[in-house]
Amino acid sequence: MPAQLACFNERCRARFSIAEVIYNCPKCGGLLEAVYDPPTRPAAEMKSVWRARRTSNAPLDQSGVWRYREFIPFLPDDARVVSLREGNTPVLDAPRAAEYGGLDRLAFKHQGFNPTGSFKDNGMTCGAAQAIALEMKRVACVSTGNTSASMAAYASAAGLQPIVFLPHGNIAFGKLAQALEYGALTLQIEGNFDQILALVRDLAESLGIYLLNSINPFRIEGQKTIMVELMDQRDWRVPDWIVLPGGNLGNTSAFGKALREMKEWGLIPRLPHLAVIQAEGSAPFYDLMRADDRSHLTPVEDPHTLATAIKIGAPVSWPKALHEVTTSGGVAEKVTEQEIADAKAVIGRCGIGCEPASAATLAGIRKLTSAGTIRRDADVVAVLTGNVLKDQDYIYQYHTGKLWGPDGHPIASNLGNAPRVLPLDFSGIERFLKGLG
Ligand code: F0G
Repeated sequence: MPAQLACFNERCRARFSIAEVIYNCPKCGGLLEAVYDPPTRPAAEMKSVWRARRTSNAPLDQSGVWRYREFIPFLPDDARVVSLREGNTPVLDAPRAAEYGGLDRLAFKHQGFNPTGSFKDNGMTCGAAQAIALEMKRVACVSTGNTSASMAAYASAAGLQPIVFLPHGNIAFGKLAQALEYGALTLQIEGNFDQILALVRDLAESLGIYLLNSINPFRIEGQKTIMVELMDQRDWRVPDWIVLPGGNLGNTSAFGKALREMKEWGLIPRLPHLAVIQAEGSAPFYDLMRADDRSHLTPVEDPHTLATAIKIGAPVSWPKALHEVTTSGGVAEKVTEQEIADAKAVIGRCGIGCEPASAATLAGIRKLTSAGTIRRDADVVAVLTGNVLKDQDYIYQYHTGKLWGPDGHPIASNLGNAPRVLPLDFSGIERFLKGLG
């Protein structure tokens, strides 16, 4: 059976052709997912094919997404794919961060090493490929920044017109700059992410523009490969926990689907637990996980956090994320602005660095270990979702003691590293450096 779209709502499960331009189930309005027959090749054979492709110079083999194409088989063999050599992101040991987080050891899977500096590239190469397959000419997204940067790059590389909608004044400058540089028509709208997404979904339908937000099931397929690549890099040893930040919850959905499919298809023997970390002022999924009635999510009307990437009050993929986190025996946690800022500085001092939303992972780990949810000796991988250079204003303000929380309270520069200004004077600078010991 070729790939199909299936409604995620288990009471519906209606199936549709992947050639249809739909983002929600036309019957019940549920979320959609791509479904396939299990691969016919044995798991061991797929693993060795994937490993062998790492030495190949063929563009698709060099992509950390398309290298695993048997795991995301929604395209015909002759389909046109645009790759910027996405994926291939490292798994980095971070002893200093482990200590801060209350763990014996901790590894970061750093998605900020992607071509546009975030995990969105894994999904975008697939979303763009599907846009080409559907013969779409224009693509659009609403974004807290990274999706727009990624979509702009992939659409331009594919010869499609990118149109990005941004919450005016609420995205990090590095991300806005990328959208401009990669040639997107960039519209800054005076509303928040959730309000603009509701509007753009209607606009896309009425104007025939292909929507590349994470509600698009093909983006989710691409983001699945983050987990496949991670397991491949770990020689298929399953960690105890995978920790990630949660915004619109597309990544949580993708990771959960990937892990379940890997288990069903014999690639891994068990599921790791997923831990989703949200910012305190923007934590509707955390609230949902704590609620007695999990049949509906109560949106946060006016979300706030300096981690603008995850400033989302009404995450569209919550039903999928709920299913994945509960199936994995996982948890949701929330962290304060101060906790995010300090955790981010610790990740920086590891020589690794990341953007604020990504640092929510380490802040969350610290809380989850001190509560005893994650054991000190657990095997934990945290996913850093975005590059350190995405939000430079935040970094400078934190280190110079000028970072203010969204509530108007100052964020303490606990691990601050402010630059010093010295006169152009040999002996003065010498004295200063000697004084440092
Ligand atoms: N981390 C970063 C750096 C992000 O950019 C995002 C989402 C997330 C985490 C959360 O991922 O939405 O899958 O739960 N950024 C989106 C954007 C919303 O528009 O760039 P999620």
